[in-house]
Amino acid sequence: MKAELIIDKNFKIGEIDKRIYGSFIEHLGRAVYGGIYEPTHEKADANGFRKDVLELVKKLNVPIVRYPGGNFVSGYNWEDGTGDKAKRPKKLELAWASTETNEVGIDEFQEWAKQANAEIMMAVNLGTRGPQDAQNLVEYCNLNTDTYYANMRKKNGFKEPFGIKTWCLGNEMDGPWQIGHKTAEEYGRIATETAKLMKLADPDIELVACGSSHYNMPTFAQWEFTVLDHIYDYVDYISLHQYYGNQSDNTVDFLARSVHMDAFIKSVAAICDAVKAKKHLDKTINLSFDEWNVWFHSNGAKFDKWSVAPAILEDVYTFEDALVVGCMLITLQNNCDRVKMACLAQLVNVIAPIMTENGGAAWVQTIFYPFMYSSLNGRGTALQTITKCDSYKSTDNLTIPYIETSVIYNEDKRELTVFAVNRSLDEDIELSLNLEGFEGAKLEEHIELYSDNLKSINTKENEAISPKKREITEKITLKKHSWNMLLYKY
Ligand code: AHR
Repeated sequence: MKAELIIDKNFKIGEIDKRIYGSFIEHLGRAVYGGIYEPTHEKADANGFRKDVLELVKKLNVPIVRYPGGNFVSGYNWEDGTGDKAKRPKKLELAWASTETNEVGIDEFQEWAKQANAEIMMAVNLGTRGPQDAQNLVEYCNLNTDTYYANMRKKNGFKEPFGIKTWCLGNEMDGPWQIGHKTAEEYGRIATETAKLMKLADPDIELVACGSSHYNMPTFAQWEFTVLDHIYDYVDYISLHQYYGNQSDNTVDFLARSVHMDAFIKSVAAICDAVKAKKHLDKTINLSFDEWNVWFHSNGAKFDKWSVAPAILEDVYTFEDALVVGCMLITLQNNCDRVKMACLAQLVNVIAPIMTENGGAAWVQTIFYPFMYSSLNGRGTALQTITKCDSYKSTDNLTIPYIETSVIYNEDKRELTVFAVNRSLDEDIELSLNLEGFEGAKLEEHIELYSDNLKSINTKENEAISPKKREITEKITLKKHSWNMLLYKY
C-alpha cells in the first residue's frame, strides 16, 4: 500500500502544550505503596521513594502528574496525609475497598514530584467534602500568610509554599460509582462555590471542572453543558476521561478507537463553544484529557478487601495496546489547539507504563515507548497535514485511515517529527512526504516499534517489545501494524 503526507509549514494546528504528556498517580492499588514509594526497598531514598522507579519516570519526561485521585479523592481527607507520620490515621478507603495508611500525602508527594521534574495537578474532594476544605488545602499548599493552614505547613517542615498551579474540582462526579455522586445541577453549583473560594484564596491557580467519565455516559453532553453554564467564569478547562479495551478480541476495531477519541474531543470543544456563545463571552474553555489509556486486561481480578496496596488494575499490556496508545497520543497532538493537558492514567503499576515488584525489579511495559518518544520529540508546533491513503470501515461504521499520523516541528531544534501508526494487519505502507517550507530537510532517524505477535508482552525478565532503529534508505516503509517515529533535521 502507498500513502502520501502533504506537509506545509504554514498550515498550523497550534503549539503543543507540553502538559499533554502528563500522567497520574492515584492512591490506588500499588501506584503509591510498592510503586513510587517503598521505604524498605534497597533502592529507596531517604524519603522512602524508589530511585529505580524515579529513573524510569524521568525517562518519560512527564511535566505534570495528577494526584491523589481519581475515585480515591472523593472520600479523602487531605489533612490525614500531612504532619507527623506516626500520628497519621489508617482509614477505610471506600473507592477501592482498601486500607489507606496515609504514610504518603501531599507533604511527601510534592517532594517526589520535584525530583521527577513534574508539576502537580491537584484534585480536591467534592464527594464527601466541599468549598471550605478545598480552600484550606489551597492555603496549605500555596499561601505564605500568617494563618492557620499556611502555618500548619510551615510547622510540618515546609517553609516555602508548594506553588501548585493546576487544580481539579473533584473527580468523575457524574458517575453513580463515585463517592458523593451528583447531578449536573448539584455539581455545577458546588463546584462553582468551591472554585470561587479557591480563587479568592489564590487568584493565580487554574481550575479544571469535571466533564463526563466517558463518552458513553447517558448524561454526556448535557452534563458538560449544564456544568459549564454554572461555572464558566471560574474555570479554565473541562476534563475528559476515556479508556479503551479489546474485550471482543477484534484488533481491527481496537486500532480504530482513536478516531472515536478524536470525535469525543471535538464534541466537548463544541459544547464549550456553545456555552460561550450562549453567554456572549470571549473567554474560551480548553480541554484537560486527564485520564486516558487502554484498560481492560485486569477487569474482574480478585483481591483481599481492606488490604493495604492490593495488586489491582495491573494490566499487562500487549504490543497491540502500544499501537492504540500511539494512536491516542497522535490524536492528542492533532487536537493541541484545544487539548492543553492530558494524563496517561496511570504511571506506576496501576494501568501503567512502569511496573514494579515489591522488594524487587522495576521494568517497562509495551506502552512505555510510544509515550516516551512522543513526550521527548512531540514538542513544538503541530501541523495540519493532508494524508492520502486507503481507509477501512470499523464495525461502528467509522471511516478509519490505514495510517494515523501527526507532524510536529520544533524551530529551535530545527527538527520535524512525524509520528505514524500503520493500522493494516497485512500490508506494509510505502510512505512519501511532500514537504513545503522545510528546505533541506533530511531524515536522520527512523524509530520503529514492531512485533509479528500482536499479543506480545514485556516482563521483568524479557523486554520483548522495545524500539529499534531502522536503516535510513530512499524509501520509507512502515511495516504492517507498527508504530514509527521519523525525525528530520532541517
Ligand atoms: O484510573 C482509574 C480510575 O478510573 C480512576 O480512579 C477514576 O477516575 C476512573 O474511573
